[in-house]
Amino acid sequence: MALTFRKLHPHFAAEAGAVDLRGVADRETLDEIRAAMDEHAVLVFRDQPFADDEQLEFARRFDGVLHTRTGAAVVKRNRFGNEALTDISNLDEGGALLKADDRRRAYSLGNRLWHTDASFQDPPGRYSMLSAKVVPPVAADTEFADMRSAYDALDDDTRRKIDGLRAHHSIAYSRQTLGFEFSAEEQEKLKGAVHPLVRTNPRSRRRSLYLASHASRIIDWPVPEGRLLLRDLIEHATQPRFVYRHPWRVGDLVIWDNRATMHRGRPFDDASHRRELRRVTTLDIEAPRG
Ligand SMILES: [Fe+2]
Repeated sequence: MALTFRKLHPHFAAEAGAVDLRGVADRETLDEIRAAMDEHAVLVFRDQPFADDEQLEFARRFDGVLHTRTGAAVVKRNRFGNEALTDISNLDEGGALLKADDRRRAYSLGNRLWHTDASFQDPPGRYSMLSAKVVPPVAADTEFADMRSAYDALDDDTRRKIDGLRAHHSIAYSRQTLGFEFSAEEQEKLKGAVHPLVRTNPRSRRRSLYLASHASRIIDWPVPEGRLLLRDLIEHATQPRFVYRHPWRVGDLVIWDNRATMHRGRPFDDASHRRELRRVTTLDIEAPRG
């Protein structure tokens, strides 16, 4: 099947032509989508009426093993009873809107900080696939930043300076920057992970900055210098010229490469409007593919 992709931004992000991913299982088409991911880093598929099981099955077919430790389980019981299916919504277990002072809402607000999924775990997330079920009548968009173009635009001195550096990523750190406190028991489960600051896509060989609000320090550097470097790099990488803003429609499936992008949710009146999406993220490991 020959798929088409229309660019949504000068550097990255593309919208696929009509296709029903529920029926895509042949290697050739899956490889076409993988190649498009290597090129565009964010792909938008419209009108994908996934049931939860179908979304999980597509993610397995497409990229192997699903991530089951993306963080929320420590704070919030999974509404669907499956840790591979992440509830990106402003709803409680009964489907009611979360109150403004609900701890689960406070935790979810961290998604409004620039981040890449599960960088506080090892292995982290590779592809995330977010399916829109209920979309508010007001803008409740997600922004993506292209970390490959951001790397390419660095000056030579900065590239030399960051070559070989590693960062510690911790969700306890990123949540604490918003005033969210974890108990000692929760912190024990959230020790974080160390990852290189620059990553290379093994197929395309393109380099990208691997940054997130979870990044708490640079290994072997004094904490202030490391945090200042991380802030400078995030500021650089999230300039408007590197950012695509996605306005959601019901039925959208957006796939992004967490190794090559950051993203953040934008604010909306979440006390008045339901917003309900489901996310499946794959493990960033070398895994045999069908
Ligand atoms: Fe995310």
